[in-house]
Amino acid sequence: MKILVIGSGGREHAIVKKISMSARVERIYSAPGNAGIAELAECVDIPVGEFDRLADFVCREHIDLTVVGPDDPLVAGVVDVFEARGLRVFGPRKNAAIIEGSKAFSKELMKKYHIPSAAYEIFDQAEKAIDYLKKASFPIVLKADGLALGKGVLICASYEEAVKGVKQIMVEKQFGSAGDRLVIEEYMTGREVSVLAFCDGTRILPMTSAQDHKRAKDGDQGLNTGGMGTFSPSPFYTREIDEYCRKHIYEPTMAAMKAEGRDFVGVLFVGLMLTADGPKVLEYNARFGDPETQVVLPRMKNDIVEVFEACIDGKLDEIELSFEENAAVCVILASEGYPEHYEKGFPISGLEHFKDKQDYFVFHAGTKKSGETVLTNGGRVLGVTATGRNLKEARKKVYDAAGWIGFANKYMRRDIGKAIEEIGTF
Ligand code: AMP
Ligand code: GLY
Repeated sequence: MKILVIGSGGREHAIVKKISMSARVERIYSAPGNAGIAELAECVDIPVGEFDRLADFVCREHIDLTVVGPDDPLVAGVVDVFEARGLRVFGPRKNAAIIEGSKAFSKELMKKYHIPSAAYEIFDQAEKAIDYLKKASFPIVLKADGLALGKGVLICASYEEAVKGVKQIMVEKQFGSAGDRLVIEEYMTGREVSVLAFCDGTRILPMTSAQDHKRAKDGDQGLNTGGMGTFSPSPFYTREIDEYCRKHIYEPTMAAMKAEGRDFVGVLFVGLMLTADGPKVLEYNARFGDPETQVVLPRMKNDIVEVFEACIDGKLDEIELSFEENAAVCVILASEGYPEHYEKGFPISGLEHFKDKQDYFVFHAGTKKSGETVLTNGGRVLGVTATGRNLKEARKKVYDAAGWIGFANKYMRRDIGKAIEEIGTF
């Protein structure tokens, strides 16, 4: 088979790596890809938003299957364009990707189908939102309705801060039209867990759990980022919690989407908060998570191409997912200053240390090739992953491996997975 992967981040590198291990694949392409992906796939310089050009390329090269990584093209309907041209593609259609594309949609879906989540109100006028805040209790959570590069969520400690947030989102339009509508949501506390699940429109098969670290600095300080590191599995996501979530969250979500005529095919990402009242949904995404994928796929035993095909063909009942009885940790190597101002264009050394190793991975996110040299080319530069018998071993290995890499202004969090080690039992 020939397969195209759309996207250019660490997530897509992890997907390409996993596809490259499939017995069924003869050639992989990526649009636009990156310097790391280029070692496994032929990169083609077509932006992820140019659906007709992507589909033309797929027809010309006789590509059998396209896998879509990022949220923007899914929400904008790339799958519909491909299907209309008779092309095989893995990902939700536009009418299902809205589960990520509109937070107001997902909140209303959860309310209608009794899926546990935070209490909320939706507003399309700033004055009404501010009126509501006068009677609210704090902290409170503001969410821009649409896609905002993971930055459209503000946790506000006071009325004054929340009023400022409403103005930023709805009046100043800091996130553009994503802020035309606003969700104001109850603040929840607990452990966060991410669960990615394969879906065939009817059935849902959850993968192993993971936890992201979204803040830029150690101890969960600093600004929110696209993710600074992950570990898998989450020791807090027990068998009992998994059973509860299957029954009260995952399966009802699939059934709800079907009942709404929005069959979900692809990967559903469920962001959970394990609260004192049980697991509740923080958010849904319509795709693999980044950097969750960088710890989940290295632990997966299945041939991923078989799973993609079963999802598209509505045959997930024929698949049993299985994961190694091990653990993985991913640490993001970023450019100092990310997520605000940072410099790029510095040479990266040490990538050769990862060659021919089964338990160490280096996934490229913001890199660029210049001749034979790989240069930094973004805020998040690389994701270094290691697997080990348990989280403690994986954590030690990943920080050793992070030290193999050198570039100017290299920055990483030092405490990815540390809270787990402090609990001591894992
Ligand atoms: P989201 O983009 O919806 O995942 O939100 C980003 C982050 O904001 C989440 O990972 C949580 O840490 C936090 N968050 C979102 N909603 C809530 C909530 N209702 N209560 C507490 N924290 C939240
Ligand atoms: N790691 C969070 C996300 O992919 O949205």
